[in-house]
Amino acid sequence: MHLRHLSLTNFRNYSRLELNLPLGVTIIQGQNAQGKSNLLEAIVFLATGKSPRAGSDSELVNWLVRDEPYPFARAAAEVVRASRTEQIDITLLPNKGNGRFRKQVRIHGVNKRAMDLVGIMLTVLFRPEDVDLVSGSPSQRRRYLDIALCQMEPAYCRALSHYQKVLAQRNALLRNLAERGGDAGDQLRYWDEKLVESGSLVVARRQWLINELEKEAALIHLDLSGGVERLHLRYLPSFDPGQQPASARTPYPSTQVLRERGVAYAELSVDQARASFLAHLYAGRSRDLAAGMTLIGPHRDDLGFYLGERNLRTYGSRGQQRTAALASKLAEVAIMTRVSGESPILLLDDVMSELDATRRRMLLEVIPTVKQAIVTTTDWDYFSDDILTRAYRLHVHEGQIDEVENAGTQMG
Ligand SMILES: Nc1ncnc2c1ncn2[C@@H]1O[C@H](COP(=O)(O)OP(=O)(O)OP(=O)(O)O)[C@@H](O)[C@H]1O
Ligand SMILES: [Mg+2]
Repeated sequence: MHLRHLSLTNFRNYSRLELNLPLGVTIIQGQNAQGKSNLLEAIVFLATGKSPRAGSDSELVNWLVRDEPYPFARAAAEVVRASRTEQIDITLLPNKGNGRFRKQVRIHGVNKRAMDLVGIMLTVLFRPEDVDLVSGSPSQRRRYLDIALCQMEPAYCRALSHYQKVLAQRNALLRNLAERGGDAGDQLRYWDEKLVESGSLVVARRQWLINELEKEAALIHLDLSGGVERLHLRYLPSFDPGQQPASARTPYPSTQVLRERGVAYAELSVDQARASFLAHLYAGRSRDLAAGMTLIGPHRDDLGFYLGERNLRTYGSRGQQRTAALASKLAEVAIMTRVSGESPILLLDDVMSELDATRRRMLLEVIPTVKQAIVTTTDWDYFSDDILTRAYRLHVHEGQIDEVENAGTQMG
């Protein structure tokens, strides 16, 4: 698929932008603080309904219009997919006098829920901070899995959002019980079942994605590392979804499969995850009550990167960690293509400066293999002459984008 046209109004430092984008590689060059990241942010915002970096949507509205009587911001895209062309747009409108903004999502001009937007435009974003995926926090790695899965499977996105709501409610109950005491077995049981309903899908799908990522990433990694070390990706869930807890005498039914210990993670089904999650919640109830919060579940998951048995987070050099992060990002492109039948739009935000010459060269080999890549940089020198002559080149300055002399680029 590709993004054929992007229009922005009052989005961050773009007061007004109408931009046609071709198939193939587009490189946008600009000094610091000119609007490179803002542009890619707008594309991801349209793809997922969420900004990859803003804490609140109101941050996206241009400062200059905030004090106007009726401030708004709008991002819209024309996306060409194999089957049809989609028109999507999001407008941020003021929320009755409280200084915040609400999202109005439209597909072909018809109002929709933000959730309906997800999956129309598939993107893989790689930013300088993603280079630290391996050494960063578990929540960063969970977000990485979630953004990829949400774009591929709307059902995952719904389950995740349901899970987060139920988790907040179960935690509120636990906090209440921790403070005031009392017996709430029935109430907890109700929230356990709700939590497991969506949580089991989250666990099973994360497991699936990590297996897929490992297969692809290991191959890419062999290339990147010069064919010496094999990369492994492992799901590190907060409970073992293939097994019942040792002390499991739960009032809940368990599936036959679960009784056969050591269910292969690769084939972990939603049902298996469900029975196991429920049993673990029950077994951990007194710990949850003492802590006043839910201590197990997909909100505590992690993803581990290993070379052999060594965890790269603890033992890897900075270079090894970056290679692994890059390999798994590129693996994401391959998996999305296979699952959706469409090549996702690759968005690279100023990552060249973070990589050494070898890894930069590897990345430059991959960029032209996707249908559309939009790449930002501070410096043209990071790119080979070969790529520069083929790419559509743009320059950004204070939220204005202009063409650099381009020979023979065809608009899609
Ligand atoms: N809501 C907003 N309204 C107006 N301008 C904004 C808003 N939010 C951010 N900006 C400004 O937009 C400018 C461009 O930001 P952006 O992050 O896109 O820069 P960049 O080109 O990626 O720079 P760098 O190379 O440093 O990463 C910055 O000066 C920033 O302060
Ligand atoms: Mg930037």
